[in-house]
Amino acid sequence: MNKIKICIVAGARPNFIKIAPIIDAIVNDSSKIITYKLIHTGQHYDKKMSNSFFEELGIPDPDINLNCGGGSQAEQTAKIMVAFEKELILNPVDLVLVVGDVNSTMACAIVAKKLMIKVAHVEAGIRSNDITMPEEINRIITDSITDYFFTTSVEAGENLKVMGIKNEKIFFVGNTMIDTLNKFKLKFKKPEIWDILKLKSQNYFVLTLHRPSNVDENISLNKTLEVIAKNSNNLPVIFPTHPRTKKIISDYNIKFENLIMIDPLSYLEFNYLVNKSKMVITDSGGITEETTVLGIPCLTLRDNTERPETINIGTNELAGTDPVNIKKYLKILFSGNWKKGKTPFLWDGKTAERIIKIIKQIKIK
Ligand code: UD1
Repeated sequence: MNKIKICIVAGARPNFIKIAPIIDAIVNDSSKIITYKLIHTGQHYDKKMSNSFFEELGIPDPDINLNCGGGSQAEQTAKIMVAFEKELILNPVDLVLVVGDVNSTMACAIVAKKLMIKVAHVEAGIRSNDITMPEEINRIITDSITDYFFTTSVEAGENLKVMGIKNEKIFFVGNTMIDTLNKFKLKFKKPEIWDILKLKSQNYFVLTLHRPSNVDENISLNKTLEVIAKNSNNLPVIFPTHPRTKKIISDYNIKFENLIMIDPLSYLEFNYLVNKSKMVITDSGGITEETTVLGIPCLTLRDNTERPETINIGTNELAGTDPVNIKKYLKILFSGNWKKGKTPFLWDGKTAERIIKIIKQIKIK
C-alpha cells in the first residue's frame, strides 16, 4: 500500500487538545502507512495558551512554527495563509488535516485546496447559525472546500447534507476532545489556587469568558460578572482569564470580592478544577462537551450553540447573553434540580483511531 503523507495543522488552544489523540493514533498504528508533519500556526503563542498543552498532552514539538500570532481577523488569517502556502509548496503532502473552527483551520484549508491538496476536517458540520461569530464563518468556509468530513454528531452530518455534501464523504466518528479527556482524566493536576483558597469539592464555580460578544463591551461584561458574583451564594468564582478578557477587565478595573481572576491554567489543572466544581459558567463550546462527559453542570452564556447535544443529552443549559437570565439558572442549581446528563454516542475515547482507520481506507491520491 502507498504511504500517505499528512500535514496536521494546529493553531489555538482547543486545537491542541483535538490533535493530540490523532497523532497518538498515527504513531501507534502498526501499519505505518501514514506519516505526518505537525504545523503550529502560532495563533496562540503565550506559554500558558500553547506550550503547556504540548508538554502535558505529550504532543511532539511541531515540525514548523509559522509564528503568525496576533493581529486583526484578516491580518491573522492572511499571515497564516502566506506562511502556510510557502511551507506546503516546499513540502507537499497528500492530505492536510485541520481541526475545529479557529482562524488557522480556515486559513490552512483554503491554502491546501488552492494547491490542489485534499483537505480533511475534524469536527466538521457543526453550526451555530450565528454568522456574527468568526468561528461560524470559519466553519462554513472550511466545510465548503473540505474533501473528508469527520463529525461529532448525527446532526453535524445533517448540516453537511443540507450543504449538498455527499453521504460517502461524511464520517460520524465521535469527538477527539473526549479521547484526550478520557486519556488524561486520572492525571488531572491540582492547581496552586486549590490550597491557596482552601477550595472544597462542589463548593466553587469555574468561569471562562472570551467571546467578543461577552467581553468586548465593558458595561455588559461588568453586569455579567456582577450577576454571577452576587448570585453564587458567596461561593468563590474561579476565573482563569483569557488574554483578551484580562485586558478589558484591567482597563476598566472590574472587581468583585468572590470573583477570583487567575492566569489561564494548563489542561490538567483546568480540568481538575472543572471536575470538582459545583458548576462551570462559560461561553466556550469545547468546555460544554467536557462538562457533559464529566457530568458537571454547565451554564453557557451565549444565545446559541453549535453543540446542541450538550443540551439535549448533556448537562449544559443556554442562558443567553443577557445577564438577567443567569439568576434563574443559579436558583435551579442551588435547589439541587440541575439535570443529569449522559454521554453522546461515540464520545468514547476511540475517535482518533476511527479517523486513522478511515484515512487509510479512502483513496486520497
Ligand atoms: C481563538 C478562537 C476561538 C477559540 C479561542 C480559544 C478564532 C477566530 N477564535 O479565539 O474560537 O475558542 O481561540 O482560546 O480563531 N493572545 C495573546 N496570547 C495568546 C493568544 C492570543 O495575548 O497566546 C491575544 C491576541 O493577540 C489577541 C487576543 O488574545 O489580541 C485574541 O486572540 P485570537 O487568537 O485572535 O483569538 P481568541 O480570542 O484567542
